[in-house]
Amino acid sequence: MYTFKDYYGNTVELSFDDHPYASFAKHVWVVCKHQGKWLLTKHKHRGLEFPGGKVEEGETSEEAAIREVKEETGGEVSALFYLGQYKVNGREKVIVKNIYHAVVDDLQPQPHYFETLGPVLMDKLPKSLKKDNRFSFIMRDDVLVHSINKIASMNINS
Ligand code: GTP
Repeated sequence: MYTFKDYYGNTVELSFDDHPYASFAKHVWVVCKHQGKWLLTKHKHRGLEFPGGKVEEGETSEEAAIREVKEETGGEVSALFYLGQYKVNGREKVIVKNIYHAVVDDLQPQPHYFETLGPVLMDKLPKSLKKDNRFSFIMRDDVLVHSINKIASMNINS
């Protein structure tokens, strides 16, 4: 388990165990790859981030992950892997998010992308991403670094 501060100074707990903080998380975050590139979305207010959002009524977390990737990037998830969970102890509430890795084979332009401006492909994520204000605050803490390392350790051919 890792504990660190997020961009806003909130304490974050992160673990790659099997659903350590909640058996059913209400939020999902999906680290996506398409044809060997990172597939992000550009949120209208927050900036560049991996897709994600809230699990809707009647949906599983996996279904939410697949839906959010489609809505925010136009990508069809062809393989989805559970990575871990993190808990943000915010000032007003505590949120728990499931982290997934998705392989996206098919990326189709959409008429609209909900709260985002659509897909952004990157060969590499910048080393200085934490200081780069093109990126959303949710990308600018150690959740990203540890998740990328976890994916590398899984030897997924994506
Ligand atoms: P509503 O419940 O619809 O009002 O949503 P909200 O805008 O309050 O946001 P949400 O419930 O998604 O998140 C509440 C707070 O948790 C946000 O204001 C952030 O401070 C924090 N938060 C949400 N997602 C993340 C994340 O991925 N990383 C970090 N570090 N903080 C997050």
